[in-house]
Amino acid sequence: MMAPMAVRRAANVLLLHLMIFHAVVAAAGEQQAGTIVRQQRRRQVLLQEKATLLALKRSLTLLSPSPLADWNESSGDVCGLTGIACDWRRQHIIGLSLGDMNISGAVPPVIGNLTRLKSLDMSRNFLAGQIPAELSNLRGLEVLDLGHNQLSGGIPPSFSELASLAYLSLKDNQLSGPIPAVLFKNCTSLGLVDFGNNDLSGEIPLEASENILVLSLYSNRLTGKLPWWLANCTYLYMLDVEDNSLADELPAGIIAGKQQLKYLHLSNNYRFSSHDGNTNLEPFFAAVSNCSQILQIEAGTVRMGGRLPSVGQ
Ligand SMILES: *[C@@H]1O[C@H](CO)[C@@H](O)[C@H](O)[C@H]1NC(C)=O
Ligand SMILES: *[C@@H]1O[C@H](CO)[C@@H](O)[C@H](O)[C@H]1NC(C)=O
Ligand SMILES: *[C@@H]1O[C@H](CO)[C@@H](O)[C@H](O)[C@H]1NC(C)=O
Ligand SMILES: *[C@@H]1O[C@H](CO)[C@@H](O)[C@H](O)[C@H]1NC(C)=O
Ligand SMILES: *[C@@H]1O[C@H](CO)[C@@H](O)[C@H](O)[C@H]1NC(C)=O
Ligand SMILES: *[C@@H]1O[C@H](CO)[C@@H](O)[C@H](O)[C@H]1NC(C)=O
Repeated sequence: MMAPMAVRRAANVLLLHLMIFHAVVAAAGEQQAGTIVRQQRRRQVLLQEKATLLALKRSLTLLSPSPLADWNESSGDVCGLTGIACDWRRQHIIGLSLGDMNISGAVPPVIGNLTRLKSLDMSRNFLAGQIPAELSNLRGLEVLDLGHNQLSGGIPPSFSELASLAYLSLKDNQLSGPIPAVLFKNCTSLGLVDFGNNDLSGEIPLEASENILVLSLYSNRLTGKLPWWLANCTYLYMLDVEDNSLADELPAGIIAGKQQLKYLHLSNNYRFSSHDGNTNLEPFFAAVSNCSQILQIEAGTVRMGGRLPSVGQ
């Protein structure tokens, strides 16, 4: 007899196949019937999205030769253009991959009109200015990568509207101000958060998704303690808070029993200390030795004291 877990998995796989099958059959039926009305509507939607793309291109500062030369009036189907992904029905633009394209200027607010986007990558460019709050209109967004630019100002608190956001990288910019608490609290799908190498201040929010796998906040000006919700992130893989001003005990309780934890970076937080008034390192090392996957612990230049436990524990 199959174990209940295996049964459920088999049922899920079956369900998925059925759904795909129905979708394919439905699509075939739709094509055969030649539902002209629907095709016209689709064309209109895509024409509207093409107009938005051209408006977007006009507001980007591109070097020549432009990697977006095929974004022009005379190009037909937008779904085949550079950096663009459409849904499988070719009805909507759902992905924009504009990473590493020498784009400068501001992030154009008009991107917020492409409301079906699931993925937006504008990383590794020379974008400057503030992150436009209009990006919060992209309610289906799952991946947002604006890392490695020259963005300044704050992280828009309205990103809390992005309920499906799973991957959020804003690393290597000049963002300042606090991490919006409402963002961590409301975006319960967040799995990866990378705000490393910015100028963020204040405390790490006190509530967050337990689905977080990667929390990378290195090289900012964060203060306060490591939040306790990290203890509930069962599948935490990487915690990097190096180069901040956190003041806490070494996080024995937080990392206890984390079977997936591979990277723990705590260095250069001058006010980290060990247990029992900075005299006892045993709890921390006991917890670390229980993290079977651990590959890297960096805890240089913290102020910890106490006897090191014997090697091999
Ligand atoms: C984007 O949306 C705004 C607000 O709905 C609208 O005023 C504007 O015309 C749209 N721009 C494009 C290029 O579609
Ligand atoms: C417009 O895009 C098409 C490809 O869609 C390309 O062949 C053509 O050269 C582009 N026109 C200009 C003026 O860049
Ligand atoms: C970006 O600019 C550099 C230097 O001008 C050039 O070597 C590189 O090919 C450009 N990349 C793209 C994607 O246009
Ligand atoms: C929180 O997310 C929900 C959708 O899950 C949304 O309706 C609500 O407006 C969001 N709240 C805030 C404060 O952003
Ligand atoms: C962790 O999870 C437990 C059980 O679901 C819950 O009671 C507790 O409030 C959570 N702790 C934090 C800090 O979120
Ligand atoms: C380490 O794991 C063992 C067995 O799973 C458990 O009994 C013990 O309490 C754990 N110690 C710490 C410090 O987490």
